[in-house]
Amino acid sequence: MAITKTISLLCLIFAVRGEVRRFPDTLSFGVATASYQIEGGWNASDKGENIWDRFSHQPNTIKDGSNGDVACDSYNQHKRDVEMLKELGVDFYRFSISWSRILPDGFSNKISQDGIAYYDSLINDLIAANITPFVTIYHWDLPQRLQDLGGWTNPLIADYYTDFAEVAFEAFGDRVKNWLTFNEPWVVCLQGYGQHAKAPGVGMNGIGEYICGHNLLKSHAKAYHLYDDVYRPIQMGRIGWTLSSNWLEPATQSAADAEAADRAMQFNLGWFSHAVFSREGDYPQVMRDRIANKSLAQGYPRSRLPEFTPEEIAYIKGTFDFFGVNHYSTNLIKMLETTSIAPDFFLDMGVLVFQNPTWPGSASSWLKVVPWGFRKLLNWIKESYNNPEILVFENGFSDRDNMDDVDRISYYHGYLNSLLDAIEDGCNVTAYTAWSLMDNFEWDEGYTERFGLYYVDFNDPRRPRKPKASALYYKSTLETRSIERD
Ligand SMILES: *[C@@H]1O[C@H](CO)[C@@H](O)[C@H](O)[C@H]1NC(C)=O
Ligand SMILES: *[C@@H]1O[C@H](CO)[C@@H](O)[C@H](O)[C@H]1NC(C)=O
Ligand SMILES: *[C@@H]1O[C@H](CO)[C@@H](O)[C@H](O)[C@H]1NC(C)=O
Repeated sequence: MAITKTISLLCLIFAVRGEVRRFPDTLSFGVATASYQIEGGWNASDKGENIWDRFSHQPNTIKDGSNGDVACDSYNQHKRDVEMLKELGVDFYRFSISWSRILPDGFSNKISQDGIAYYDSLINDLIAANITPFVTIYHWDLPQRLQDLGGWTNPLIADYYTDFAEVAFEAFGDRVKNWLTFNEPWVVCLQGYGQHAKAPGVGMNGIGEYICGHNLLKSHAKAYHLYDDVYRPIQMGRIGWTLSSNWLEPATQSAADAEAADRAMQFNLGWFSHAVFSREGDYPQVMRDRIANKSLAQGYPRSRLPEFTPEEIAYIKGTFDFFGVNHYSTNLIKMLETTSIAPDFFLDMGVLVFQNPTWPGSASSWLKVVPWGFRKLLNWIKESYNNPEILVFENGFSDRDNMDDVDRISYYHGYLNSLLDAIEDGCNVTAYTAWSLMDNFEWDEGYTERFGLYYVDFNDPRRPRKPKASALYYKSTLETRSIERD
């Protein structure tokens, strides 16, 4: 009832307001999920333990004390997931492969046939439904045994990761033509190795995140080159990765805050984009200079940010077929210089990050609704990196427990309008992905924040899914390939 009412209300508003904006035919639409957040089956068959299994099974790591043992039970219900994708009418589905489901020990000497069979079945069902699979090779669930060897701080991880990627190319590359090496390296490294918030919770602020980032960049490049050299000629697909970034807006008109916001963009998006997408390669100059200076002042014999050799810079540069980006919100930035004894990523960056309290909120502390920031971010990418093809791999809104999710509809409506503004500005955006297909395990927030177009009842062992009002909104947007002007 409530949903029907919302939809007729929306129709009424549209009928009154009028102006329709069409999406270009070159833009395709999808939804995304990630293995640990939806699959469950954490100990099914011969699957090995991963860092999220280990992390969430420890006390006081996850807000509601929950874990992903069952999650959405997609390990058993992927046929229902494909039904939902068909109901929505998406062009593509972005999902990730659980490393320890395919390689129980982390290494490629032992491949799980059940693990391969699970993804085979999902991919075959997608192709039968005419839905293109977009596969994220790594979305945060590292095998625990590899973490025991240092995880992303171990330089040998680039070999182990590339071995895993090769198993995926071999097993699925005949049907999968769109690959992402990594999801959101900034979060993997900052929150997993610099801070304690996410698995593996190393918490070596100002040190751990930079070592992680260094090895992750090399891992990305190695897997890219493997695909480019060996698999592209026979499988003819494309490969890139997806980076997270809020838009960072100067808090005032001052030159200092403009400089601070620019620097913050380099410490956020630039940390992982500059080495791959810029003409010169390597980390942004401002990161190298600032971290080196602060490290020396703190008594370290060298920069806490590791250095690439010229060969490594050349090897990493240009390892992309497109620019993938996840975007949710906007922050305000003020200059804030301090001298710090302790190493710290945010003090290295030297800015104050905050949000305008009048911006509409969500269930996530960090997610305010600021549609115009999306247009500015896409234009920043266009200007900084010579107008690359951009694929938006995540965008979405969190609430608590709500089928009639008008706030999510309003978020999508605003952000899709902003996307069209960016396309009119000349940004070459060819894919848009809503996060997420359904409510799922939201990492350290457990099940307290819901991002789904479909509602999942986590109290019911069958984990039934039901379309929210926003699912119908997204479906009708995809049917008409148009929205109303804001
Ligand atoms: C798998 O994990 C569940 C807890 O999520 C436990 O009850 C069950 O015994 C485990 N199964 C095996 C085979 O270890
Ligand atoms: C780093 O230190 C040098 C020498 O003290 C100084 O000239 C330079 O401006 C500093 N650079 C940054 C980015 O702080
Ligand atoms: C967008 O990028 C694609 C892929 O590189 C290219 O074929 C297309 O011409 C570009 N479109 C525009 C408008 O630049």
